[in-house]
Amino acid sequence: MTSQFANIKWQQQLNSIKQPYSLDFNDVYFNSEDGLAETRYVFIERNDLINRFERLKEPVFTVLETGFGSGLNFYCIADCWLKFAPKSATLRYFSIEKLPLTLADMQRSSELWPQFSAIANEFLAHYKSLQFPRGIFSMAESRIVIDLQLADINDVLPSLQITNKNWPESCVDAFLLDGFAPAKNPDMWSDNNLMHLARLASANATFATFTSASMVRKNLEKAGFVVNKHAGFGKKREMLAGYFHGHQKA
Ligand SMILES: C[S@@+](CC[C@H](N)C(=O)[O-])C[C@H]1O[C@@H](n2cnc3c(N)ncnc32)[C@H](O)[C@@H]1O
Repeated sequence: MTSQFANIKWQQQLNSIKQPYSLDFNDVYFNSEDGLAETRYVFIERNDLINRFERLKEPVFTVLETGFGSGLNFYCIADCWLKFAPKSATLRYFSIEKLPLTLADMQRSSELWPQFSAIANEFLAHYKSLQFPRGIFSMAESRIVIDLQLADINDVLPSLQITNKNWPESCVDAFLLDGFAPAKNPDMWSDNNLMHLARLASANATFATFTSASMVRKNLEKAGFVVNKHAGFGKKREMLAGYFHGHQKA
């Protein structure tokens, strides 16, 4: 790997467990009191993923995450996929990450979630050999394909193509918008980036994000998403989730 890695401080939290903190963005990777519960509440429940996995009729379900970080969202969603989705279907998990964690930090983060150790160990075996700017790995006996792009989202999104046979360009089923607080990292949430997400959205695409920042809401609406406010997780008052209202016919 030749590019840059994340600068992490391992910070003591209330529960006395050390968790990763980004020195690049001065922000936490996940809720410091219960990161896993936050992932479940924000990204899994607001995208209705368990129900959608259980009822899936298509051979593929596609997730696009902005900000791979410590991999917590990936482990949690992969775990749900293996428990609830039909065995014959494939989860395609796309994620974009500008400053990946070093292998050591990724390993240490995964130890926070022993319930996901099987999927995390398989992932880490691939992560060891991951090269900038992209790695695509098949996991869990081909039930999951992860496609990690290690570059700035502003450089990746304009040329990103996610295709399937039914819909040549747009087939993301669920977006996980997880790019640090917009006040600290406005670039990640630009209207241009959110327009590109709309370009990649399937007709039934949903999104969820921990933030309720008005700039994010406005940019999502401008891009064609219907945006609803929900109660936030923990101390956060509100969060946003919703769905894509469809591609305009030319
Ligand atoms: C809150 S963390 C993501 C947490 C992660 N989803 C998890 O499960 O641990 C936000 C991530 O966005 C990444 N990021 C910030 N700005 C970015 C950019 N312009 N392009 C790509 N990734 C970016 C950060 O490096 C960080 O890993």
